[in-house]
Amino acid sequence: MDTLEALYTRYSCREFTDEVVSDEDIEKILKAALAAPSACNTRNWSFIVVRDRETLLKMNEANGPAANALQTANFAVLIVCDKNIMWPKFPEYYVIDGAIAGENMCIAATSLGIGSLWLGTWPQPNKMDAERAVFNLPENLIPHSVIAFGYAKDKSRIGELNKGLKDPTPKIHWEKW
Ligand SMILES: Cc1cc2nc3c(=O)[nH]c(=O)nc-3n(C[C@H](O)[C@H](O)[C@H](O)COP(=O)(O)O)c2cc1C
Repeated sequence: MDTLEALYTRYSCREFTDEVVSDEDIEKILKAALAAPSACNTRNWSFIVVRDRETLLKMNEANGPAANALQTANFAVLIVCDKNIMWPKFPEYYVIDGAIAGENMCIAATSLGIGSLWLGTWPQPNKMDAERAVFNLPENLIPHSVIAFGYAKDKSRIGELNKGLKDPTPKIHWEKW
C-alpha cells in the first residue's frame, strides 16, 4: 500500500480478532515511531509495547470504558515522554512530539493491514495517574497516549476512504479565510 492510500484509509478500529500480529510487523510499526520528527530533535518519547492480556486489561481499567478495545487488542503501545530530556525552552512540545510518533504508528499499521485505535490519555489526570501506576513509572515519565493494535474483526471498513475526507464542512481555505 502506498503512503497516501494508508493516510486516506486509516480509521479507528474498536474490535480485533485473536490473530497474532507478528514480531516483524510490530517492529516495523515501532520503527515508524522512531522515525518521527521531534521539536529540537529531543526524541523525548519512548514506547512500552504490551502483549500480555493481563496488562492490557489493567490498561483498559486505567483508561476506562473508552478503552474497551484493549480487551481484544493483540497488542498496545503506551507512549511515554521524558521530562528530563524535553527541550528546556519549550517543554510543551512533547505533546506534539508524542502525537506525531503515535500517528506514524497508526499509518504504518494501516499499510500493513493492521487496525489501530488511539486511546487519549494526556491531558486527563485520572487516566495518566492510573497508567503511571500500572507501569510504576518514575515521576519524570509522562504517560502520553495508548494505541491499541490488531486485525480488524469487522473487515468492511478496511480500504474504505476515511469519512473525514467526505466531511462537507469546509476545512480547507485557499489564500484567505
Ligand atoms: C487524541 C485522541 C484521543 C482519542 N481517544 C479515544 C478513546 O479514548 N477511545 C476511542 O474509542 N477513540 C478515541 N479516539 C479516536 C477518535 O474517536 C477517532 O479518531 C474519531 O472518531 C475519527 O474516527 P476515525 O479515526 O475512524 O477517522 C481518539 C482520537 C484521538 C486523536
